[in-house]
Amino acid sequence: MSELNLVLLGPPGSGKGTQGERLNEDLRLPYYATGDILRAAVREETELGRTAKRYMDAGDLVPDEVIVGVIAEALDSAEARDGFILDGFPRTTPQAEALDAKLGELGRSVTAVLLIDVDDEEVVRRLGGRRTCEEGGHVFHVDFNPPRQEGVCDIDGSPLLVRDDDKPEVVRKRLATYHEKTEPLIDYYDHRSVLRRIDGAAPPDEVTEVLRRTLATMRLEADEAV
Ligand code: AP5
Repeated sequence: MSELNLVLLGPPGSGKGTQGERLNEDLRLPYYATGDILRAAVREETELGRTAKRYMDAGDLVPDEVIVGVIAEALDSAEARDGFILDGFPRTTPQAEALDAKLGELGRSVTAVLLIDVDDEEVVRRLGGRRTCEEGGHVFHVDFNPPRQEGVCDIDGSPLLVRDDDKPEVVRKRLATYHEKTEPLIDYYDHRSVLRRIDGAAPPDEVTEVLRRTLATMRLEADEAV
């Protein structure tokens, strides 16, 4: 397989960020997490951040045209030439169509969409205990993935915070937004035969193992097809 153009799909709190970081270490491909990009823009008070903040705080999606431009620029960069990992994009059918169009321009296509699936009840449990590092966005959970020292990131030592959009009422809105706007992408990618379903309810290390096996199988299938 010459290039790996991967998309991580799943509800809020399904573990996309947790697994994305690990895949990033394994595969050494650029990792574009739109939530992290937008939160950095909010912190830096850029124009993008000012536009995005009110949507994010309400649990809504930022407008398609805003986020499509950000990803199109990333995919044009030299570092993304041999592949990439997208986390949190696409999230609507117009975003998926824009991604196809952009990759089509570059003579490329999505290699696989890894759907990490968990139910709503589990999402609420997970986001209630999530802690995110202020500096690098590294993700922990007070019970399921605790840091070695309470309140401190294992990786860069910065403080661990509760995300503004992890308040229970915003989590419920984010879940409703996911079901309405993002879930249709499961069929979209299934019809294109690139969807791989992963049970996200297992502990993080097991989910990582299943993802690694899925990618290894894909490589074997691609080699056999040559
Ligand atoms: P974004 O940051 O992308 O949020 P999200 O998709 O809602 O996903 P999360 O980051 O909440 O969860 P995750 O799946 O990464 O789970 P995690 O690994 O952290 O987006 C935020 C906002 O930005 C959106 O609401 C929207 O406004 C805007 N936005 C972003 N992209 C956009 C786009 N394309 N278009 C428009 N707007 C956009 O895990 C969660 C917790 O569970 C952690 O505490 C973790 O330690 C724990 N955990 C992980 N895996 C497991 C496991 N297997 N078992 C037990 N616990 C686990």
